[in-house]
Amino acid sequence: MNILILGSGGREHAFAKKIKESTLCKNLFVAPGNAGTAKIATNIEIGFNEFEKIAELCLKNKINLVLVGPEEPLVNGIRDFFEAQPNLKHINIIGPDKAGARLEGSKEFSKNFMHKYGIPTAVSASFTKSTFLEGLAYLEASNMPIVLKADGLAAGKGVIIAQNITDAKLALEEMLLKSKFGKASDKVVIEAFLKGVELSVFVLTDGTNYKILPEAKDYKRIGENDTGLNTGGMGAISPVTFATNKYMALVEKRVILPTMEGLKKEGIKFVGFIFIGLMNCEGEPYVIEYNVRMGDPETEVVLPRIESDLVSLLVATAKGNLNEVELTINPMNAVTTVVVAEGYPEEYKKGDIITGLEAVENCVVYHSGTKLNKNNIVTNGGRVFAITGLSNSLEGAIAKSQKGAKEITFEGKYYRKDIGLDILRSV
Ligand code: AMP
Ligand code: GLY
Repeated sequence: MNILILGSGGREHAFAKKIKESTLCKNLFVAPGNAGTAKIATNIEIGFNEFEKIAELCLKNKINLVLVGPEEPLVNGIRDFFEAQPNLKHINIIGPDKAGARLEGSKEFSKNFMHKYGIPTAVSASFTKSTFLEGLAYLEASNMPIVLKADGLAAGKGVIIAQNITDAKLALEEMLLKSKFGKASDKVVIEAFLKGVELSVFVLTDGTNYKILPEAKDYKRIGENDTGLNTGGMGAISPVTFATNKYMALVEKRVILPTMEGLKKEGIKFVGFIFIGLMNCEGEPYVIEYNVRMGDPETEVVLPRIESDLVSLLVATAKGNLNEVELTINPMNAVTTVVVAEGYPEEYKKGDIITGLEAVENCVVYHSGTKLNKNNIVTNGGRVFAITGLSNSLEGAIAKSQKGAKEITFEGKYYRKDIGLDILRSV
């Protein structure tokens, strides 16, 4: 069959690699893709929000399945767009419809959903411009630190953790009255700060049946020892030691089952990936957020651990018979280190020539922000590569990933040297 992946990051390169391994995939397209996907698939210069052009591309190339990488097209209703047109209806989309995508597209919706279906999460309330004063009073009555979240999509930047009441009030004012995150912060969710260790849990569902994919731990901060600004993710590991079978059974009971049940009760047929961001608070899982797609860089450690044919899993997801397909997971340790451009997550340069790729061995190089420029591969984003090491030991996987990250060169290259070390020290 012919498959189209939408997106251009390391996540999409990882999907492309895994899909290419399947004998079920005939032709693979990525829109817009990067220099890595260009090597194994056909890149098409179309943005992932250009639905009309995507539809045209699908018809022209007889695409049977579209895997949506990022959240934006889902929140904008790409599934609804395809389902509404008779000539596109037969194309299977992996990703929820607009209603399902609200789990990520609106923090208020997702918090109300969690509260309604008894899913453990931090206490919260939401405010708008017209209830700004009530928001200030709510802050006054809350313990610090406190978390303020823009309701809508804000490219991963819409969360502020305020350490004291002055900063909290200022943040609320900037978000609600000064449109700090544009329209996304017209509404703000204020929620209690949860102390613990984060865990990313991934569920693939056909709307009824589901499979729990390997869990991962993401390293979100730019600096070592989790310091500095929040990023899209600077590295990830899988498996995660504290996510024991017992813990994951608790997550399934307290979080996954009520989420599936809640979706059904809301009349949402969710077809795709649910990424549950959890805070592990002394053995108790609390949901921080839902995402309606896979994580990046988590995908770069999750997919290498899946032994089953990914295309079979995706087809079963689309057809509603995921219960009939086996999911086999490799117990190996996977560690990915993200190599970024100087300045990321703030302003950074693009177009720097990358060298040293051929020297990288014993690990998987996932391209993220790269592009082909004449005969060179050049930087084209803040996160440039995700380098995944696989080994029977966590230590071995860290070493492979770090060695690979070291060998790649471009001006201003930066990567964290402590990915996985916290977990290694804790065991
Ligand atoms: P989000 O965009 O919801 O993933 O939030 C970004 C990051 O902020 C999360 O990955 C956490 O590190 C942090 N965060 C969000 N909500 C909370 C919370 N209630 N307590 C503590 N940290 C949080
Ligand atoms: N790595 C976090 C995310 O993909 O949202």
